[in-house]
Amino acid sequence: MNEQTPVTNVDAAKAPKLPNAETVTEVQHYTDRLFSFKCTRPASLRFRSGEFVMIGLMGDVNPKTGKQMPLLRAYSIASPSWDEEMEFYSIKVQDGPLTSKLQHIKPGDEIIMKPKPVGTLVHDALIPGKRIWFFATGTGFAPFASLLREPQTYQDYDEVIITHTCREEDELIYGRNIIESLKDDELLNEVIGEGFWEKIKYYPTTTREESAKMGRITDLINSGEAYKDLDVAPLSPEHDRAMICGNLAFNLELKDMLEAAGLEEGANSKPAQYVVEKAFLD
Ligand code: A2P
Repeated sequence: MNEQTPVTNVDAAKAPKLPNAETVTEVQHYTDRLFSFKCTRPASLRFRSGEFVMIGLMGDVNPKTGKQMPLLRAYSIASPSWDEEMEFYSIKVQDGPLTSKLQHIKPGDEIIMKPKPVGTLVHDALIPGKRIWFFATGTGFAPFASLLREPQTYQDYDEVIITHTCREEDELIYGRNIIESLKDDELLNEVIGEGFWEKIKYYPTTTREESAKMGRITDLINSGEAYKDLDVAPLSPEHDRAMICGNLAFNLELKDMLEAAGLEEGANSKPAQYVVEKAFLD
């Protein structure tokens, strides 16, 4: 016997214990309700920016069966399709079955990820246009964090408007960090050209805490204030395309507003003028 561990044992110690296991590489907390994390990317996973996957952890042992079942939820992928790592943006719900545990993950921990991406918030579901609107509330910013780092977004559109409505100012931090990082994004500067970020108009608003711009984006559009602030023409089916991702009431209200403006809902099988996230749960 000696102190050296045989090579085979080292490999065994590193082998994932979970099915579809990926390793957490980075975790960032923003508020007591919000955090983001990065993890390794499954070698077989190909996805389109804006899609989601099922991720989670092993649940508690079922006292009746003595078995542990995976606890999985749909999460929008916040990283772009070309990235080597995967990024996710999540709420923390203290008594939530998954996020009460997920909020405690640390680099080196393992999560479960089913490598089967799906989603409606993809460029393929939209017909060509001049301007694209990304409408988000809360953690609904996640798919747009992916799409804003996707070269196709700037190849397809002259103007990219991203609105983010949250209750409080701190809930805007994640989105603001992404927007600020775009200027130095090597791939986008290389592929689209320096100054590509001038196509972006970022419109963050809060509803329950004082900030530079207050109000729900729905109200700000209905009153015309958002158009004035952004210095853009009102929504038109001819030029505008839109993606919506937020809480259910928001999704429905905005969908009605877009329909009233003459835009039609698209899908992968039938591209049109706007799309709504179907899996997002706030
Ligand atoms: P409000 O504070 O007025 O409810 P939540 O944290 O509840 O998911 O909400 C995230 C943000 O979305 C909040 O700023 C909230 O505003 C806003 N919001 C909720 N419902 C709607 C809606 N139907 N239309 C526009 N914004 C909404």
